[in-house]
Amino acid sequence: MAGPTEHAHWSSRWTFMLAAVGSAVGLGNIWKFPYQAGLNGGGAFVLFYLAFVFLIGLPVLMAELSIGRRAQKSPVYAMEQVASEEGRSKLWVLLGWSGVLGGFIILTYYSVVGGWVLAYIVKAAQGFGGFDAEMSRATFGAFSTDPVEPVIWHFVFMAVTVAIVAQGLKGGLEKAVKALMPALFVLLIGMVIYSGVVGDLGAALYFLFNPDFHTLFYQETVDAATGAVTQTFTIARVLNALGLAFFSLSLGMGTIMTYGSYLTKDINIGKSAFTIALADSAVALMAGLAIFPIVFAFGLNPGESVGLVFITLPIAFGQMPGGEIVGAAFFFLLAFAAITSAISLIEPTVSFIEEKTGKSRGVIASFVGGLIATIGLLSAWSQSGSVLGDVSIFGMDLMSAKGYLTDNIMMPAGGLFIAIFSGWFISRKNAMEELALEDASFRKYYFLVKYVCPVAISAVFVSVLFF
Ligand code: PHE
Repeated sequence: MAGPTEHAHWSSRWTFMLAAVGSAVGLGNIWKFPYQAGLNGGGAFVLFYLAFVFLIGLPVLMAELSIGRRAQKSPVYAMEQVASEEGRSKLWVLLGWSGVLGGFIILTYYSVVGGWVLAYIVKAAQGFGGFDAEMSRATFGAFSTDPVEPVIWHFVFMAVTVAIVAQGLKGGLEKAVKALMPALFVLLIGMVIYSGVVGDLGAALYFLFNPDFHTLFYQETVDAATGAVTQTFTIARVLNALGLAFFSLSLGMGTIMTYGSYLTKDINIGKSAFTIALADSAVALMAGLAIFPIVFAFGLNPGESVGLVFITLPIAFGQMPGGEIVGAAFFFLLAFAAITSAISLIEPTVSFIEEKTGKSRGVIASFVGGLIATIGLLSAWSQSGSVLGDVSIFGMDLMSAKGYLTDNIMMPAGGLFIAIFSGWFISRKNAMEELALEDASFRKYYFLVKYVCPVAISAVFVSVLFF
């Protein structure tokens, strides 16, 4: 059985940063952020998202990394060990378990969207010539509701993920992130410039950065019979922003704790976490700036929901010279960003089973991946009217319901308990020693993790029950 001494380590701080940013940056930033910003009314939502990333996400990120590094074990064992060293209840181990479960659930729909991206590499290479809003919407609609095609791509996505995880930390993950993460950044910058030039940049900037708090806090409903509009106060969109912050930073799921367990002591967790949060939110904003100028220039609806990226970008690719190559490259890199996140979603489960059974990574990854791919069929078919499309859970299709459960409930709840554990159940002295920050920075971290995170997350949870 693998003990602490055999636990793998990152080759360098640079590979750790790339892997952590690789986990954080993914569909959450490039697919979910734009469509959520669109659905939730833009500026004010974006502002809350950013505030949550830095005031709540960042301290939880540091807390997770430091628990992982201290224990040098996967989340279930890490929680068990740190709780016992601090003389705390064994029940804290549940936090590790909820991470394993959450990662599992997320992957059962994440890989379906990952599959959509893979399919779009091929579609982009074939060209989107002459696509207008109507055609683009129809193409995505026909594809995503097809009972067979998306399923095949979903399996391909899981197979690639499993193949990389099976190679282990250095052979698989590190090699892949080194080359492709920087390429993603460069291409995204290119896309932002291109859509800024051909699209309606002014409208996009206004939508993303002009906070309209009324839209954030008031839900409009139109009475079908009378046409009367009623406005009700709601916290639902604030919870969406909180959920998105957690999702896009990979928090509250043990993922980052697992990556922390591969850290050596010489790495500065505070600085690293800040860079990760910065890169992550920058990519989300860049994705927004690549997509919304096109949305507004072509008269698309910002509230297009899950299809937003797949509907808007093909219009741009269809018009630019060399669009086949740029389009295919973009979806390729997005697929890659999604795979590095998928790897990090499966990693807590795989490394846990590895520690427990000592079996080979290849066998474990194939087994876990196979199970996820099979359960994921339900997510794929939930988009298809002919199969499971009519199943509705609290008014959502199965895929959106899973997303709601993980993003808006499990991840913020995970973050809440990690903050409570780190602020109240780890002694100040030990927390300080593990983080090795300067005094002033440590005080800020401790204040955020001990008071701000628990109070803010609970406040959002409680108020959403009432409003
Ligand atoms: N952060 C990833 C993304 O933005 C998703 C993710 C969530 C990965 C939770 C790991 C854990 O796509």
